Amino acid sequence: MTQQIGQQSHAICDYEGTSYRARFWEGQGRDYEDLAERNALRRLLPPRGRRLLEVGAGFGRLVDLYGGYDQIILLDYAKSGLREAQERLGRSSRFLYVAADLYHLPLAPATCDTVVTVRVLHHVADVPAALCGIAATLRPGGSYVLEYANKRNVKAIARYLLGRQPWSPFAVEPYEFAALNFDFHPAWMARELRRAGFRIEAGRAVSHFRHPLFKRLVPAPTLAALDSVIQGVGADWKLSPSIFVRAQVVGSGDLRIAPLFCCPACAGGALDEIPEALTCRNCGAVWAISDGIYDFKTPLHPGARPNA
Ligand SMILES: C[S@@+](CC[C@H](N)C(=O)[O-])C[C@H]1O[C@@H](n2cnc3c(N)ncnc32)[C@H](O)[C@@H]1O
Ligand SMILES: [Zn+2]
Repeated sequence: MTQQIGQQSHAICDYEGTSYRARFWEGQGRDYEDLAERNALRRLLPPRGRRLLEVGAGFGRLVDLYGGYDQIILLDYAKSGLREAQERLGRSSRFLYVAADLYHLPLAPATCDTVVTVRVLHHVADVPAALCGIAATLRPGGSYVLEYANKRNVKAIARYLLGRQPWSPFAVEPYEFAALNFDFHPAWMARELRRAGFRIEAGRAVSHFRHPLFKRLVPAPTLAALDSVIQGVGADWKLSPSIFVRAQVVGSGDLRIAPLFCCPACAGGALDEIPEALTCRNCGAVWAISDGIYDFKTPLHPGARPNA
């Protein structure tokens, strides 16, 4: 689907109602990938902070790794995933559930210490725009831990050299292998991170053993432990299908605790809370808070001066 807020529109890979957890994770033979990703995130995530934002958090699969943070914002376009997370984690001021488009983040500048995206960027057609939005939500010196699908992985290289794959894994431009599913070249991603104001600090190459044969022969925890051993050195080669990076916003500065939200319709208007909604002082848009979920997808009232 295509989302339009203000004047820009972007295609969105819509997970609403897709039962992502049941369909993709539960009993689907991906325990190895889950463990390998957790190992990488544990190594890269700054262990403590006031506020962490996970963009494209889905049903909150990785939330147990955020124990060192005072407040965790789970943001996703799909409300169905957020509702699953809310059922498991409950309602409290520690967890905020935010339905929004990552191209129009409803967060005021410098309000997060850390942002995480895992298994999300491969659905993002305009990564430079997404990175700029994420950089703006981070305080100077804040960290962005991201995962992306690597087009220059060993399997793609072998298939290309054997003539079984037409596209080159060495070409730097993103490759869209299915609608709104992209693989990225590490050099391209590094360049775009720098352009968005990040400095790359550390990386992990992840899921080296993502092959049915390995997964059949070796128990998932053992395979993930082996992967963990080579994730660090593998980051020099980047031949695995998944790459994790920790990047830091250049500079240093304080976190802005409040106000947290701003209006995504006019890109920054201050919001006033009224019962069950937020209203924008600038454009007049009204955003619902329904059943504990801040809903910034479609305004209850659109507002008079979008992009004012
Ligand atoms: C493959 S799932 C990954 C979920 C979670 N990060 C995980 O690893 O379990 C991709 C998630 O990105 C979300 N997503 C995709 N495009 C988005 C957008 N434009 N804005 C916000 N969320 C988006 C989807 O709704 C979905 O929940
Ligand atoms: Zn507004």
